[in-house]
Amino acid sequence: MSDSAAESQEAIRYPDVVLVTGAANGMGAQHARALAARGVHICVADLAEPDDVVAEIVAAGGSASAHSLDVTDPLQWERVIGQIREQRGRLGGLVNNAGISRRLEFMDTTHEVWEQVLRVNLSGPFYGMRAAAPLIRDSGGGSIVNISSISGQIGYFSPAYSSSKWGLTGLSKSAAGNFAAWGIRVNSVHPGLVGTALLGGADAFVESAMRSIPAGRMGTPEEITDAVLFLLSNRSTYLTGSEITVDGGLVSNGLYHRIVAESGGELG
Ligand SMILES: NC(=O)c1ccc[n+]([C@@H]2O[C@H](COP(=O)([O-])OP(=O)(O)OC[C@H]3O[C@@H](n4cnc5c(N)ncnc54)[C@H](O)[C@@H]3O)[C@@H](O)[C@H]2O)c1
Repeated sequence: MSDSAAESQEAIRYPDVVLVTGAANGMGAQHARALAARGVHICVADLAEPDDVVAEIVAAGGSASAHSLDVTDPLQWERVIGQIREQRGRLGGLVNNAGISRRLEFMDTTHEVWEQVLRVNLSGPFYGMRAAAPLIRDSGGGSIVNISSISGQIGYFSPAYSSSKWGLTGLSKSAAGNFAAWGIRVNSVHPGLVGTALLGGADAFVESAMRSIPAGRMGTPEEITDAVLFLLSNRSTYLTGSEITVDGGLVSNGLYHRIVAESGGELG
């Protein structure tokens, strides 16, 4: 067998232990389920009660532990990482998925909203990486995946959300440089529109946005999970400081997709 054929048949491997924040609901819960189904012990961390997701994983034959965590509190991060060091002895992956959205235009964005969104979406991943990186280093290196958004790649009307996600895009690249010497890769994933509670109450917004998505539909949590799995696995060992956009073509082609559709075929 040639070297390249042998390489292509190499089994996909994941870290033994991965911590996923915001994993009690939505996409985080899906990342947790999918990783557990691949033999990974999942540390399910959330502000909300994570027990249901843990029970579901265990009932399906997987391994998981529940960790109460408000990502905005550095002391809670230290406690959770201490628990993982004590209970599991190692950590090979961190998915900074917890996030909140406030779809408010500039002048409707109060100081409180600004502070809260920045604390959860940007300070949270900073505190998380700061707390978790030494344990990942001591475990022989690993992978950190930060869930940003397409709002962290383009101009987006809501300043708090967009700034927090642009900040997370930059923070990921900074961390990738800092942690390379510890064998830790850091990348960001940028979902487009995905049908979770985060989009609750935004029916008109979603319906209108749909007309700019070349794929013609929203994404599913499973489709975002596929990018997360790839970045945590041994199939992405040379990938760090990068952005993976999973948006059905919205960022790259949304503008002209809509213009062509609305021009009613009059392209001449
Ligand atoms: N749904 C989308 O269309 C979309 C698009 C782009 C990016 N994202 C991002 O994907 C991530 C997951 O979003 P989702 O759609 O699954 O949202 P969701 O609302 O379904 O789940 C978010 C989870 O984060 C938890 N959380 C919120 N604040 C927290 C805190 N301070 N500490 C710990 N946990 C906290 C919530 O309890 C919840 O379980 C978020 O970072 C979000 O910004 C979502």
